[in-house]
Amino acid sequence: MESQDNIIKFNHVSFKYNSDEPLALNDVSFDIPKGKWTSIVGHNGSGKSTIAKLMIGIQKPLEGDIYFDHQRMEPEHLNNLREHIGIVFQNPENQFVGATVEYDVAFGLENHAIEHDVMREIVPKVLKDVDMLDRLDYEPQSLSGGQKQRVAIAGVLALNTKVIVLDEATSMLDPAGRTELLNLIRHLNIEKDVTIISVTHDLSEAADSDQMIVLNEGSIFKIGKPKEVFSHGEELTKIGLDLPFSMRMNQMLREESEYITYEGLLSEL
Ligand SMILES: Nc1ncnc2c1ncn2[C@@H]1O[C@H](COP(=O)(O)OP(=O)(O)OP(=O)(O)O)[C@@H](O)[C@H]1O
Ligand SMILES: [Mg+2]
Repeated sequence: MESQDNIIKFNHVSFKYNSDEPLALNDVSFDIPKGKWTSIVGHNGSGKSTIAKLMIGIQKPLEGDIYFDHQRMEPEHLNNLREHIGIVFQNPENQFVGATVEYDVAFGLENHAIEHDVMREIVPKVLKDVDMLDRLDYEPQSLSGGQKQRVAIAGVLALNTKVIVLDEATSMLDPAGRTELLNLIRHLNIEKDVTIISVTHDLSEAADSDQMIVLNEGSIFKIGKPKEVFSHGEELTKIGLDLPFSMRMNQMLREESEYITYEGLLSEL
């Protein structure tokens, strides 16, 4: 990538959960460019969620350093950090604190010391954004998996942070809901310069991002623009990734492994 400002930097970061276990992350270095969309992909257990937890300071590196906006992350900065990074965790179950959907979204705002009048405007707006306005007074626990994900996303949208981390945050949504939310997030990214870091198993979503980080067994396997990364198609399949449909088709059609958009494929055909 051309020279640009980085909002997050991992510098030779290693991490393990328990001292008697192997490293969950092994000497991982990368930059997250400000205002761009970075996707993180890799097989189950490759370390994606661990990266997300380190990014927001839930876990601390065993070795190496993490920088947020050029400042080395220290425990005393963590409260400040939470104002800048919003995260939707992989498992929304563990994320609810409010007795109702409405209160849950409001609670996050209260933590950010947002005035009550402002809160009354923001909460319905973000619930509408995720198509959950009609569930305002439901208990979060009574929602379906996809509905929980929507509420968790609303909670992060409400905070209006400059960085949003999505850990498989749309995995349980139906295709229409997914497309809608990805469009909304893309809108925040393009129009409001929000930096997006999205952990995903969906390589066609990753193909639309600005930068891809591919993990394999706790180490960086590849980093680059999707086009560069996908040019290593066969290696990606070997580490357990499923290539986007349009790319597999393209590979079958001609012995070339460049990523091609769906539209591009149609015109080829
Ligand atoms: N709370 C934990 N305690 C101990 N080990 C953990 C914990 N969470 C993750 N690990 C281990 O760390 C490694 C990386 O896990 P991580 O959750 O980061 O993977 P992931 O890439 O997010 O996988 P998935 O696609 O399944 O979500 C795995 O080997 C896992 O067993
Ligand atoms: Mg995970």
